[in-house]
Amino acid sequence: MRSIGKKLKTKLIGRQIYYYEELGSTQELAIYLAENNSEAVNGTAILAERQERGRGRINSKWISPSGGIWLSIILKPNMPANKSPLLKFIAALAVCDTIAQNTGLESKVKWPNDILINHKKVCGILLDIATKGSSIEYAVIGIGINANVNIRKILPYIPDHKGNDVSVTSLKNELSGKYVNRPSFLKLLFERLEHYYCYLEKEDLGGVVILDQIKDRLDILNAVVTIQQKDKTIEGLVVGLGLDGSLVLKKNDGSLIEVLSGDTRSRVIKQQH
Ligand code: BTN
Repeated sequence: MRSIGKKLKTKLIGRQIYYYEELGSTQELAIYLAENNSEAVNGTAILAERQERGRGRINSKWISPSGGIWLSIILKPNMPANKSPLLKFIAALAVCDTIAQNTGLESKVKWPNDILINHKKVCGILLDIATKGSSIEYAVIGIGINANVNIRKILPYIPDHKGNDVSVTSLKNELSGKYVNRPSFLKLLFERLEHYYCYLEKEDLGGVVILDQIKDRLDILNAVVTIQQKDKTIEGLVVGLGLDGSLVLKKNDGSLIEVLSGDTRSRVIKQQH
């Protein structure tokens, strides 16, 4: 994967790459560089073949053996902080596009930010942001893709942040053992990410177009779901996403309700298509 820099067509994403055979966590290093190193320019990518302490959402552990694609990208976007959930969505769109173009596999977005193939998790996305007033100072997007990972050797299930088992897969598993060319995958991923990022920075519609595209990929769009919150459950038809990344449900009485993605007390516990 070290060789990818020479073939890249992007102007921003991945123009500067920090590459490691082994690292604690690309996310932690990226945050450190964004805070302390002015040379960590917009679009800098940190890549590792293996991570010893890969971090998942809500501080869960992310198992990161050789064969996967583990990276974090430092962004210094010119956008208000309230648009930051859209950064997760552009990463999700870039991953789905890349999977489709590179492998021919169809993937879906599981709210708030997992990528699934055949209902199994193949990729997780993490977003850390630092704000200055109402603007984003920097954002770090962490992307973990089980590319050429032999899932059966690791774990067929992983616990999510609530401790529930989530089925896991890899691109190689879904391709019946065929290996993914990781440098080409990564090159395309950087290009798709740059495409959506530049679009988001320029867009006058405040992210509506990005949200529409994510909506099309949402695994639970038009499904009736039951959301478990701390002390109650809410049932409703999933009709879309809010600009803040929340899930918009239409309840039986016709009213709309938004469930925040950052609300760790909320999770989808049942879905009926
Ligand atoms: C999730 O829990 O679904 C998010 C997982 C994100 C994992 C990636 S791997 C690269 C980057 N470095 C980390 O330590 N975590 C993210």
